[in-house]
Amino acid sequence: MQAKFITVEGGEGVGKSSNIAFILSYLKNKNLDVVSTREPGGTELSEKIRDLLLDAKNKSMISDAELLLMFAARAQHIAELIKPSLAQNKWVLCDRFTDATYAYQGGGRGIPMQRIAVLEDWVQGDLRPDLTILLDLPIEIGRQRASERSEPDRIEQEKNHFFEAVRQCYLQMAADFPERYRVIDASQTLEQVQKDIAVVLDEYFQTCQKQ
Ligand SMILES: Nc1ncnc2c1ncn2[C@@H]1O[C@H](COP(=O)(O)OP(=O)(O)OP(=O)(O)O)[C@@H](O)[C@H]1O
Ligand SMILES: [Mg+2]
Repeated sequence: MQAKFITVEGGEGVGKSSNIAFILSYLKNKNLDVVSTREPGGTELSEKIRDLLLDAKNKSMISDAELLLMFAARAQHIAELIKPSLAQNKWVLCDRFTDATYAYQGGGRGIPMQRIAVLEDWVQGDLRPDLTILLDLPIEIGRQRASERSEPDRIEQEKNHFFEAVRQCYLQMAADFPERYRVIDASQTLEQVQKDIAVVLDEYFQTCQKQ
C-alpha cells in the first residue's frame, strides 16, 4: 500500500497530541513505517520558526508576518521531512498542517482565504493530506484543558471570538471536503475518542485496500 499523509487538526487543547500518540501506535501495530511530526515545526529550522511564532513576547507580529512564517516553516518541513518520507513509503502523521493556517490566519485573523490558497499552491504543489482527523470541541472546554497544562503562548492568548472563528472554519472545511475529513467529537472521554478514531482508521484502511 502506498504510504499516506495523515493530519490531525483542531483548536487548543482538543487532544491532538494525546491522540497522535494513539494513532501512531495504531499504525505501528499494522507494521507500517511511520514518521510523526508537527506544525509549525518538524525540522530544526522549522522548530526555530515555531519558537518565533509562539513566543508571547513577540506582541508586535503582524498577521501577514505570521502567515508567511507559517509557510516558511512549512516549505522547509515539506522539503526536508514530509516529501522524502512519503517517497520512502513512510506514512506521515502530522499534528496540524495547512488547514490550521486557513482556520487560524484565515478564520481567526481574517486574512483572505484566496491569499492562503496562493501560498498553499506555491509551497505544496499538489501535496495535500490524504486523511484529516478533526477533533471538534466547544472552545471553553479546550481552553480549560490547555490552561491546566501550561501558560498560554502568543496565539493561545487570543480572545474567545478568535477561537470560535477557528472552530467554525474547521467545521466548514470538513463540510467542504467530506472525502478527506473525519470529524470526531472530542468532548467525550479520551477512551471514547480513541474508539471513534479506531473506527475511522479501520474504515480508511478498508477503502485503501480496495483501491
Ligand atoms: N478526551 C479528553 N478528555 C479529557 N481530557 C483530555 C482529553 N483529551 C486530552 N485531554 C487532556 O487535555 C489536555 C490537552 O490535551 P492535548 O495536549 O492532547 O491537546 P492538544 O490538542 O495537543 O493541545 P494544544 O493545542 O495545546 O497542542 C491534556 O492535559 C490532556 O491530558
Ligand atoms: Mg498538542
